[in-house]
Amino acid sequence: MQLKSIEQIKNLKNKRVLVRVDYNVDIEKGKVTEPERIIRSFPTINFLVKNKAKVILMSHLGRPDGKKNLKYTLKPVAIFLDHQTKKPVHFAHDCIGNSVKERIDKMLPGQILLLENLRFYSGEEKNDAKFARELASLADIYVNDAFAVCHRAHASVAAITKYLPSYAGYNLIDEVENLSKVLKGYNRPAVAVIGGVKISTKIKVLENFLKNYDKVLIGGALANNFFAALKYKIGRSVYEPDYVNFSKSLLDRYKGKIVLPQDLIITSKLDKNSKTEKVKVSELNKLKKKNFIIADIGNRTELYFESFIKSAETFVWNGAMGVFEIPQFSHGSDYLAKIMAMQARGDAFGVVGGGETIMLIKRNHLESWFDFVSTGGGAMLEFLEGKVLPGIKPLLK
Ligand code: 3PG
Repeated sequence: MQLKSIEQIKNLKNKRVLVRVDYNVDIEKGKVTEPERIIRSFPTINFLVKNKAKVILMSHLGRPDGKKNLKYTLKPVAIFLDHQTKKPVHFAHDCIGNSVKERIDKMLPGQILLLENLRFYSGEEKNDAKFARELASLADIYVNDAFAVCHRAHASVAAITKYLPSYAGYNLIDEVENLSKVLKGYNRPAVAVIGGVKISTKIKVLENFLKNYDKVLIGGALANNFFAALKYKIGRSVYEPDYVNFSKSLLDRYKGKIVLPQDLIITSKLDKNSKTEKVKVSELNKLKKKNFIIADIGNRTELYFESFIKSAETFVWNGAMGVFEIPQFSHGSDYLAKIMAMQARGDAFGVVGGGETIMLIKRNHLESWFDFVSTGGGAMLEFLEGKVLPGIKPLLK
């Protein structure tokens, strides 16, 4: 998959370049607390600044549902950018209209302006042509550097490409190159480790891995659907009843490829003071208690999963193995995070992504151990389904 790169733009000097970034980051008390996505946009910003373009950044933040709501203002991001880039970053209190145009008219080459949240306008999420044209009227060139929102056909991601010459920024190119490697050109054995809560959001990606990979290790609440399909009792554990038949059909079609936990940590309450118990999956139906909750994988499963991970030449990891936010249910996720990090440090090519997975590797200080950490959650999963995302399609060479 080859994208039209920002480097192909001839003569950027004095050009107004509208850059779609994904600054949908965590902000607490007016301060950015999780800046990774912002940091990933720096190579593109620096390139444009160096080439004396006028850099106009635009993003969404949260889901304000098409209405102006200052709870979702991007102002704290402008302050963060200003500190981190060591360049003055200006902020516009709107993302379209005359006041923004006047602001841009006054910009000097190499200056940076961040626009207010695009989702303050309903036209953004509707992929509205009029809204896209208003955005396009602010600039000469469009650059998409927002991989994490490329699965959304929104005005600033999709429709806008009809009205401006459009290119991909460095972050987007990096994501596409690395994720393409694990999608197709991987070395064998290839192992996917998929956890998390909702199987409904992971059906297609699971199928794609089951078709193309050697083993798919399933943990977290996702595995509960498979236990239910195998007629194990799962107490009050989280699962999606509508997907039990689907899980059963995967087990029938891909018998040798699906690897499920062998033992589990259960509890009666998801609380840091609650008691825990280890149980073998084969003994779930013998349990007297009915109200138990599966909260983590057990030690036996950790070692079992480890044996597959250690044989992998390529692996992808998305989703936690248990309720990792609570210390006594995080051992499985933390343990496998370290095993995968070591495997990626060796010869294997290892890619991880998704919000909770990134939280896990960060708290274990393992970011630099992996070959690639995707900034995309939903976008990464949809890309790994094998889809051409709506934000990427218009940028293909
Ligand atoms: C994300 O955080 O996954 C992207 O920024 C997309 O956000 P959304 O799910 O609100 O569209």
